[in-house]
Amino acid sequence: MTQEPELDVLLETERTFPPPPAFADAALYNDPGVYERAAADPESWWAGWAEELDWIEPFEQVLDWSDPPHAKWFTGGRINVSANCLDRHVEAGNGQRIAFYWEAEDADQAGPEGRKEITYAWLLDQTQRFANVLRGLGVGKGDVVGIFMPMLPEAAVAMLACTRIGAVHNVVFGGFSAESVKERMEVSEAKVLVTADATLRRGNPVPMKSQIDSALDELPVMKHVVVVDRCGTGPPMKEGRDLDWAGAVATADPVCPPEPMDAEDPLYLLYTSGSTAKPKGIVHTTAGYLTHVTATHRMVFDLKDDDVYWCAADIGWVTGHSYIVYGPLANGATSIMYEGAPDYPEKDRWWEIVERYRASILYTAPTAIRSFMKWGDEYPGRHDLSSLRLLGSVGEPINPRAWLWYHEKIGGSRCPIVDTWWQTETGGIMISPLPGLTTTKPGSATVPLPGIEAAILDSEDKVVKVGAGTLVLTKPWPGMARTLYREPDRFVETYWDRYGRDTYLVGDAARWDEDGYIWIVGRIDDVINVSGHRLSTMEVESALVSHPSVAEAAVIGVNDEDTGQAIVAFVTPRDGVEDGPELTAELRQHVADRIGKLARPRKTCFASDLPKTRSGKIMRRLLRDIAAGKDLGDVSTLRDPGVVDSLSEQINRDQ
Ligand code: WTA
Repeated sequence: MTQEPELDVLLETERTFPPPPAFADAALYNDPGVYERAAADPESWWAGWAEELDWIEPFEQVLDWSDPPHAKWFTGGRINVSANCLDRHVEAGNGQRIAFYWEAEDADQAGPEGRKEITYAWLLDQTQRFANVLRGLGVGKGDVVGIFMPMLPEAAVAMLACTRIGAVHNVVFGGFSAESVKERMEVSEAKVLVTADATLRRGNPVPMKSQIDSALDELPVMKHVVVVDRCGTGPPMKEGRDLDWAGAVATADPVCPPEPMDAEDPLYLLYTSGSTAKPKGIVHTTAGYLTHVTATHRMVFDLKDDDVYWCAADIGWVTGHSYIVYGPLANGATSIMYEGAPDYPEKDRWWEIVERYRASILYTAPTAIRSFMKWGDEYPGRHDLSSLRLLGSVGEPINPRAWLWYHEKIGGSRCPIVDTWWQTETGGIMISPLPGLTTTKPGSATVPLPGIEAAILDSEDKVVKVGAGTLVLTKPWPGMARTLYREPDRFVETYWDRYGRDTYLVGDAARWDEDGYIWIVGRIDDVINVSGHRLSTMEVESALVSHPSVAEAAVIGVNDEDTGQAIVAFVTPRDGVEDGPELTAELRQHVADRIGKLARPRKTCFASDLPKTRSGKIMRRLLRDIAAGKDLGDVSTLRDPGVVDSLSEQINRDQ
């Protein structure tokens, strides 16, 4: 992403977008007093939301913050997440309401199987059955179940079935490699894995089950694998270990009463990248998380009964957990779930879907918006998008140019855009406009939601009123991560030690402007955000150095017009190994095998040494400057100043 043109767009426009009056009039939140009311008493604000859920035992205390950073929300309460997402809607007579319009990638060829109307009653039936299947496989309360699935309704069923019986799910994004699945199953000691034979991608089945088979053999704790037959590819099934989803569900007992869970029982684990090579197992608990995602989903998306809501994220990321599964289902929403690629069979697939189901809310990531922008206006132009009334963005800062395109070409200049800032760790949205209240500025996530408090601190830890610094959250919130799985000390060190245990270190730099708007600048740690996917530089480096030809590697993120950031790798091959395009290709494949395709370096530069200080520390800042083509100034303190020229030359060669 080049800086100057973006700045032009901003200066040129300096436009602000107040909520359209008709939208504001009809909005759930259009009284600005909500911010003050929530700030005056955040605990009653959140308690109000919690009370809208169905409790098995009411809670006694809203928040126990006596031992920060260990928050306990809604203590004494007992609740079941699946009962709140399913049973209460069915009991209220809404069993036939559509939870998901599911659309297969090959919908036009697949007959009635290609487009399914998934009702709340069907989800409840399948969830109870699959919960009994899990029980039959020896899964009980507190046990971990792995889920490695494409975008199928069964993925949601598997998650809900876990919550039904108090098992803890650990979903791994379907694009990750076998190695990543294995590592995440190993560290969480998952007993069962739910997967599919294959996933359909641009018309072709991409194997899942057979791809991970050899890794599964190395997991002694993993007793069973349940396989959804999506593509009929018939992967090998291991006798006694592997079973077919459809057969198991068809013969299972259809009744499984919801397990009464303590408010603070763990709900799920989700591994995400941090600043070390080892992913962090974020732990979310039951009642606080459910309260947070229910409240934010309703407020931020101004959710009404007749909305058709589409969160186009993957279920394997936190956005899918919070805003495809738990928030929307708890709110009884009707959603769209699309299985496949956005450009298959044509680049207008999403817009065809919007038109077909009359989608009214669309929530996606800037990286997708930038692709659509590049493909051209003609694709959305082919379809009637007049059903849309609200647009959302998540995952990375949205550049003003993409924001304006989204607003104009997708939203027909009539839909407010909610740019929602949050993280896997926060569980739900934290900083975002309320669409009926907030005047938006393209590129700014605007202000913290009611009940949320943020601050920006400068290098001397002083609060910044107008200006840039480190973003922190200064009050506990119900969806906050409670710990890192089996690494409680790392949780405290990573997020809470820096400013004194009651202040959460986000890891992003941000700026308040003179109107009190927050602009997220980017990460301050070694996390790279590629197409909205979080990766750690160390994770990629450790994958690279595990290759026999590599002696040393350093990885940085550089700005990229399409993917937000892209990975550049600097590699020193082992003695006697020849570098060049072949090694580059081999290393890309190696990283894909170790982590997943999304972690492959965009560019690889080779050198006999990496720029280091005399004490031997790799100078990443210098690598970033090399990649950005900046003037490097005095490099004489380097151990071998010559390597810089060689690297600069390679970077510039084909730019
Ligand atoms: C970035 C995704 C700017 C940020 C929900 C954060 C954003 C990280 C935005 C979390 C946004 C997310 N504007 N930056 N609207 N949303 N980010 O855990 O750097 O995958 O810390 O959660 O993405 O990524 P994660």
